[in-house]
Amino acid sequence: MVTTKESVNVTLDLGVHMNYTIKTMEESDYDEVYKLWTTIHGFAMRSLDDSKEGVARVLRRNPGLSVVAVSGGKIVGSILVGHDGRRACFYHVCVHEDYRNHGIGKAMASEAMMRLKVEGINKIQLVAFKENALGNGFWQAEQWVMRDDLNVYDFVLNEANITAFNK
Ligand SMILES: CC(C)(COP(=O)(O)OP(=O)(O)OC[C@H]1O[C@@H](n2cnc3c(N)ncnc32)[C@H](O)[C@@H]1OP(=O)(O)O)[C@@H](O)C(=O)NCCC(=O)NCCS
Repeated sequence: MVTTKESVNVTLDLGVHMNYTIKTMEESDYDEVYKLWTTIHGFAMRSLDDSKEGVARVLRRNPGLSVVAVSGGKIVGSILVGHDGRRACFYHVCVHEDYRNHGIGKAMASEAMMRLKVEGINKIQLVAFKENALGNGFWQAEQWVMRDDLNVYDFVLNEANITAFNK
């Protein structure tokens, strides 16, 4: 095949290149984002935390920090972001399966990190299940540091916040 500038452009337009924009996640995005979350293999979905009210609470407490990626008018990625004035946390970082490996995850993470930096936050943490090879591979590729000198503790305050794992 003769590769001309034109043929390369055609190939890119046919799918190698992906147009997307990163924007602030709004409460009105909830239904679409929730639907995306349900498609992500291995995600731990929490009945209260991931409800419309639970997500709205995060967005209201942390205005302008959570992001979504939009391509072709549809939400194809998201990061829920919160901080407590000292440390930030990323939740439910995901890109729709059909849109992976096009830089969307990296672009969303970079945007959210920049927004936190502007707020004066110095550190971000996130939890990745040990068996999540995709997630751990991504964070390590992005130079995030995996801490093996820490134990993660949590304490359940409300048993009604039931966890279900996506298949
Ligand atoms: C993790 C996830 C968000 C990455 O999104 P993505 O849009 O496919 O990632 P990107 O295309 O932005 O990748 C950015 C870089 O990381 C690299 N990368 C991505 N996934 C990787 C993996 N599993 N292993 C190694 N490198 C990886 C890419 O090659 C790319 O490197 P480059 O900048 O040198 O080209 C996506 O795979 C996903 O939704 N996974 C399921 C949910 C999940 O595991 N979330 C994380 C929870 S902790």
